[in-house]
Amino acid sequence: MKKKIIHVIGARPNFMKIAPVFIAIEEHNKGNGDIYIEQYLVHTGQHYGKNMSEVFLGELGIPEPHVNLNVGSGSHAFQTANIMLSFEKVINDLNPDLVVVVGDVNSTAACAITAKKMGVKVAHVEAGLRSFDRSMPEEINRILTDSISDLFFTTEKSADENLKNEGISSDKIFFVGNTMIDSLITQLDKAIQRNTLEKISLTKNGNGSIKYGLLTMHRPGNVDNPDVLISFLKTISLMAVDIPIVFPAHPRTVKQIKDQNLESLFTSTRDVLCNKKGIALIEPLGYLDMLNLLRSAEYVVTDSGGIQEETTFLDVPCLTVRENTERPVTLEQGTNVLVGQNTKLLSKEVAKIVSGKCKKGTIPPLWDGKSSERIVDIIVKKFK
Ligand code: UD1
Repeated sequence: MKKKIIHVIGARPNFMKIAPVFIAIEEHNKGNGDIYIEQYLVHTGQHYGKNMSEVFLGELGIPEPHVNLNVGSGSHAFQTANIMLSFEKVINDLNPDLVVVVGDVNSTAACAITAKKMGVKVAHVEAGLRSFDRSMPEEINRILTDSISDLFFTTEKSADENLKNEGISSDKIFFVGNTMIDSLITQLDKAIQRNTLEKISLTKNGNGSIKYGLLTMHRPGNVDNPDVLISFLKTISLMAVDIPIVFPAHPRTVKQIKDQNLESLFTSTRDVLCNKKGIALIEPLGYLDMLNLLRSAEYVVTDSGGIQEETTFLDVPCLTVRENTERPVTLEQGTNVLVGQNTKLLSKEVAKIVSGKCKKGTIPPLWDGKSSERIVDIIVKKFK
């Protein structure tokens, strides 16, 4: 029997969550099972260009998307509406049995709604996470997607509880672990081989590697308000006198830095290397270089969801500049500490880490590199 699946990718964090599922289905198809799955990758184009999209696909070993909707940037309504209009045509053309969406970006909700209204079943990977903060666009996307999905694949037990509390019946919820960690486990050896510090001019000839902290910040709540962004960057530049900080910045953040004339807060990578202090603002990195920087960082300051999980897996201290997290297992079992927008607390926590008093964590259950295989087994059973 032949079945057809569409996987939706759109924004940077989607690629590493879908890639291992795609690859696990290829493996399944090599077996002699009675179900062959024809699979298609549909890229909405929410993120685009080399740094934000192309580099990831090559590194993660998945093919060029079969279809690119090329929606690009715009307001939430513009982006969501355009994805829906274009995705409707794709569903009409391909007539899939199942649409797989991941995470919580605009592409996730837009494609889930379109598919469901056309009578196509939807599987949500990374379902059930809740920050309980409806001012975050991602929380709205999570709630919308989970209110209509048919299969719910969860990364942590809190997600199962959230879904049950929202009335989803237990037989649709599958605690499978974390497909993003599947990608991390598969790609870590390759990442370690890269001369990332040399590539970004933070070491010469692979020698004399420096200690560094790593910063990523792109949430509208942190970067769109100039007062908040300025307060963070000033605090972080003071912290960067002990250990320099590398800051691969998202285009949204770079735009704000330029609009607010904040370039003087940063140091060139050459000066960081000479003086061992300062914040080095660099272009967004590909997946392997980012993983390589993450694993060797003294600490990470972030507002990303995925990086809270990656640092927990890698046992690297993580300070999350958000008031809440939809991934509580990283607080309860991992290395994550929430500091919100409290810059004093941020400095205090960094000082603790630098003096060797960092939080120790453990790896959460089922973050073992086999989550995608579990997902494929379940999908195949459901197709029978
Ligand atoms: C989106 C997701 C967010 C995720 C983040 C990861 C939503 C609501 N938000 O936020 O959950 O954590 O991706 O990066 O889906 N831009 C570019 N090039 C790109 C993409 C964006 O220059 O490839 C610039 C554009 O000016 C754009 C802005 O960044 O307007 C924001 O992009 P958008 O996709 O709207 O949201 P993100 O902030 O990337």
